[in-house]
Amino acid sequence: MNSIQLIDGKEIPVLGYGTWRNTDPKECVDGVVAALAAGYRHIDTAQMYGNEALVGEGMRLSGVPREEIFLTSKINNNNHAYEDALQSIDASLEALGTDYLDLMLIHWPVVQGHEEDWRESNIQTWRALETAYKAGKVRSIGLSNFKVEHLENLLPHCEIKPVVNQIRLHPGVLQTETVAMSREAGMALEAWSPLSPLPQMLEDSSLVALADKYSKTIAQVLLRYSIDKGYIPLTKSVSAARIQENFEIFDFKLSEEDLTVLDNWQWQGDVFF
Ligand SMILES: NC(=O)c1ccc[n+]([C@@H]2O[C@H](COP(=O)([O-])OP(=O)(O)OC[C@H]3O[C@@H](n4cnc5c(N)ncnc54)[C@H](OP(=O)(O)O)[C@@H]3O)[C@@H](O)[C@H]2O)c1
Repeated sequence: MNSIQLIDGKEIPVLGYGTWRNTDPKECVDGVVAALAAGYRHIDTAQMYGNEALVGEGMRLSGVPREEIFLTSKINNNNHAYEDALQSIDASLEALGTDYLDLMLIHWPVVQGHEEDWRESNIQTWRALETAYKAGKVRSIGLSNFKVEHLENLLPHCEIKPVVNQIRLHPGVLQTETVAMSREAGMALEAWSPLSPLPQMLEDSSLVALADKYSKTIAQVLLRYSIDKGYIPLTKSVSAARIQENFEIFDFKLSEEDLTVLDNWQWQGDVFF
């Protein structure tokens, strides 16, 4: 699978299988197995999702060797302190049944209980990630949902630079300033919920025609949009057929004109990010 190099020299596959809301045990395990069978080599979970043990089970059942899989988890909001974050990394490794994570992120920058001291709490949580990195428990470390002010606070305190910012990105949610600042700091952008526009776009005949032109579905166009923008889309499905469909995006590329159409598309959904 295509991959790109992070600033710490590690390779990351450009499409990831997400597992948010995959809490039904069978659906979660089967989804991970189906994704790895389809060719995905990048799995995204989080302490918050409560499914790390199921993700680990799916990885083992798949028969794909651990070293071929790029595995990400994220520090939960209630673990924003040096010791808590460190212990939570050990707990994640235990639950996943692995002795290393490829990538560990701070899930959210401003969390309950740290509304006032989030600046210092992010610095302490980052210290824990740096400690785990030096101990070889996590091979890369990064951020999630960090906007400009959160980056401005944390970056000057990083001994080891974050390699990724995982944020919501899709037509209608462009986060231009955050993208620019993350890139300036050398981070790769991971795009969560890239299929959010799908229900609205299915009602839009011009978008249906755009996808038809490439003989692709709108879901495939949205994932390709993300890759053509230089992002790493994370996509989730519990259906083996849709998992396969979402993987079939490496045999086409969107024109500059169509990328502009998608950049300018008006989103009518929520703006949670
Ligand atoms: N860092 C963060 O704060 C954060 C926040 C949100 C998400 N994430 C990560 O990003 C991942 C992706 O986000 P997401 O879960 O919102 O995923 P998504 O891929 O944008 O959307 C998933 C939804 O689309 C449906 N779907 C998937 N493929 C489809 C297709 N080809 N045609 C029609 N419908 C399709 C799924 O339903 P079915 O399952 O029924 O197919 C599901 O309802 C998450 O799983 C998680 O790992 C991170």
